[in-house]
Amino acid sequence: MSLNVRPMRYEDLDRVCRMEEENFSMPWKREDFEKLIEDAGSRYFVAEIDGYVIGAAGYTDMVGDGYINNVVIDKEYRGKGYSKKLMEAVIESGKETGIYDYTLEVRVSNLPAIRLYEAVGFENAGVRKGFYDQPKEDAYVYWLRIPRRN
Ligand SMILES: CC(C)(COP(=O)(O)OP(=O)(O)OC[C@H]1O[C@@H](n2cnc3c(N)ncnc32)[C@H](O)[C@@H]1OP(=O)(O)O)[C@@H](O)C(=O)NCCC(=O)NCCS
Repeated sequence: MSLNVRPMRYEDLDRVCRMEEENFSMPWKREDFEKLIEDAGSRYFVAEIDGYVIGAAGYTDMVGDGYINNVVIDKEYRGKGYSKKLMEAVIESGKETGIYDYTLEVRVSNLPAIRLYEAVGFENAGVRKGFYDQPKEDAYVYWLRIPRRN
């Protein structure tokens, strides 16, 4: 079983929306994901095993920085390191568009996500108080800055 990471397509939207609803208390809607396909400044990827989508992640170009969007791995496929491979592929793809700096927020209680982000090189840059709703919670702000090669 090997993991394949590729850009999200319209036919993935049902599956991606389902994962979103199962894993986030304030899930993005279908239109939000459609925008990620259509917006030239966004890249969003799915991870699949034998053609079955088991995860998703991507970024939006925010004036030269990559803002990481909605990282998710289906519950049944967690604990296998797939999210790390997915995030590494996302970050690698950014180099094609000149993105070397990434930022994200994560709930302070979300240890699996924090471990993942730190494993791919993100560093904690502080706290945004009360950033999240449902439930109300602080966010850690993380940054990854990849050295540029000329
Ligand atoms: C975050 C998420 C994508 C990680 O996916 P995953 O493929 O299971 O990640 P991994 O198996 O690589 O585990 C990541 C790390 O968290 C650790 N971990 C897993 N569950 C944990 C827990 N309950 N407490 C502490 N650490 C935990 C793992 O041991 C691993 O750390 P390691 O590499 O140092 O061993 C997945 O948990 C998920 O989809 N969560 C719901 C959506 C979400 O919260 N997304 C992030 C929003 S910011």
